[in-house]
Amino acid sequence: MADQQAAPAGPDLSRGIALGDFSGATLLGHVGDEDVLLVRSGSEIFAVGAHCSHYHGPLAEGVVDGESIRCPWHHACFDLRTGEAARAPALNPISVWKVEQEGNRVFVRQKREQPRPHVKGAVDAPGRIVIVGGGAAGFAAAEMLRRQDYRGTIVMLSSEAAPPVDRPNLSKDYLAGSAPEDWLPLRPEGFYADAAIDMRLNADVVSIDTRARHVVLAGGESVGYDRLLLATGAEPVRLPIPGADQPHVHVLRSLADCRAIIASADGARRAIVIGASFIGLEAAAALRARDIEVHVVGLEQRPMERVLGPAMGDFVRALHEEHGVIFHLGDTVTSIDGKRATLKNGPVLEADVVIVGVGVRPRLALAERAGLAIDRGVTVNAYLETSISGIFAAGDIARWPDPHSGENIRVEHWVVAERQGQTAARNMLGQHEAFDAVPFFWSQHYDVPINYVGHAEKWDEIVVDGNIAAKDCLLQYKSGGRVLAVASIYRDVASLEAELAIEKAKR
Ligand SMILES: Cc1cc2nc3c(=O)[nH]c(=O)nc-3n(C[C@H](O)[C@H](O)[C@H](O)COP(=O)(O)OP(=O)(O)OC[C@H]3O[C@@H](n4cnc5c(N)ncnc54)[C@H](O)[C@@H]3O)c2cc1C
Ligand code: FES
Repeated sequence: MADQQAAPAGPDLSRGIALGDFSGATLLGHVGDEDVLLVRSGSEIFAVGAHCSHYHGPLAEGVVDGESIRCPWHHACFDLRTGEAARAPALNPISVWKVEQEGNRVFVRQKREQPRPHVKGAVDAPGRIVIVGGGAAGFAAAEMLRRQDYRGTIVMLSSEAAPPVDRPNLSKDYLAGSAPEDWLPLRPEGFYADAAIDMRLNADVVSIDTRARHVVLAGGESVGYDRLLLATGAEPVRLPIPGADQPHVHVLRSLADCRAIIASADGARRAIVIGASFIGLEAAAALRARDIEVHVVGLEQRPMERVLGPAMGDFVRALHEEHGVIFHLGDTVTSIDGKRATLKNGPVLEADVVIVGVGVRPRLALAERAGLAIDRGVTVNAYLETSISGIFAAGDIARWPDPHSGENIRVEHWVVAERQGQTAARNMLGQHEAFDAVPFFWSQHYDVPINYVGHAEKWDEIVVDGNIAAKDCLLQYKSGGRVLAVASIYRDVASLEAELAIEKAKR
């Protein structure tokens, strides 16, 4: 059977549309077989590619803010004039098209050559920048340095065996078996050589000499730097119980971890997931997609309650139960003897594969040994610079002054790590840009995405709009009447609007 082509979206813009037919902020149409979005911004009309370059989200369902448009799915932001991915998680630009107005009709016939991104360039160009870490923040920093036309040397040192990958996918489609491995790399292999990024894999940095300005690798080699970015991420917590070191007991952080889980899951009948938080439950959903019986053991009484509150916790539990997951809450595993796992409350479960998802610890050892200020994370200022000038930190290790909550916070979110990597890159070039993005994360369970903007460690009230069980809701986490954070299911526009409102409240 021949592949079925999706019908082109909306009107054929090359034939023109009457201005009177374009009344809203956006209009989805097509030119040839490409979907193109008309966007009104003030008195101007732009035409851009209609799909987000991250996961193909429908920009027609996003929100326009000045000369930019935000993606409804994971809040990437694109510049309408240049198409540039101005905010992660998208990294690639979208296409931009020429808009011609003839009388009262607007025509789009031709793609423009991709304009150059906005480049401030280096105010103070260091000769060599070293990045420790090949994850979200480290990669985004390296990519942004080149986008900013930085011509100096970039060395990226990663203790992983694989080039930077789309880590969130490791507990979702890739683990479920519905995404091929070639979706995972953030960039194709040739990118690093083409961009002159000296990426060294299996390179473990063991110390930093902050006076001599060099880092030392496990093999003894030292690498000098003019600016240094620490983006060492977080380490999964391992359970100190007998049997946790067996080959079918896994943590999930790297591509290597995920491949090992998939190998253990091959032919497995039953799995135990220890930990009922985001990664554990996403992994549970992925294993259910492989038709494996899944038992989730968690200390908490309600999954995700600490972050999302009781009602959303109950919903998440019910959702997983509908898909056949069996919970053992208020319990933990005390030992694993071969395939037999003993629970504290008594039961013994047999499992072919065990995933330990009981949280992570920021990898702070390098920073600690180097004498950087530490406060449950690497302390950075608004510019993401640590207590030692010239050394920056970003991602899961960084505790920064969040202007929205007014607190020094550290989070473990993909998008925050990427955006911090990008800000740190610009600041290593002397651009002096405060990091003020509103924290954002998403989590996916079966066909249900949960989006979260803001930061609320505590709240005194949760206001629910809509119906959580019907998967159509927006929850506001408030303190003293102020909205600190918003979680939502299938309320993408409202989630983007909440993000803009939190940004504007600070402005
Ligand atoms: C399976 C999984 C699913 C996730 N899903 C989501 C999601 O859906 N949404 C979301 O918001 N967040 C998600 N996260 C969290 C998100 O991936 C992290 O917040 C993000 O990766 C943090 O980026 P980072 O650059 O700080 O650290 P990492 O991406 O962990 O990168 C750290 C890098 O530093 C390297 N490194 C560490 N120490 C050294 C050293 N001494 N020398 C050399 N290299 C070193 C590591 O090898 C690694 O390459 C998920 C995480 C996991 C593991
Ligand atoms: S699909 Fe647009 S940000 Fe992910």
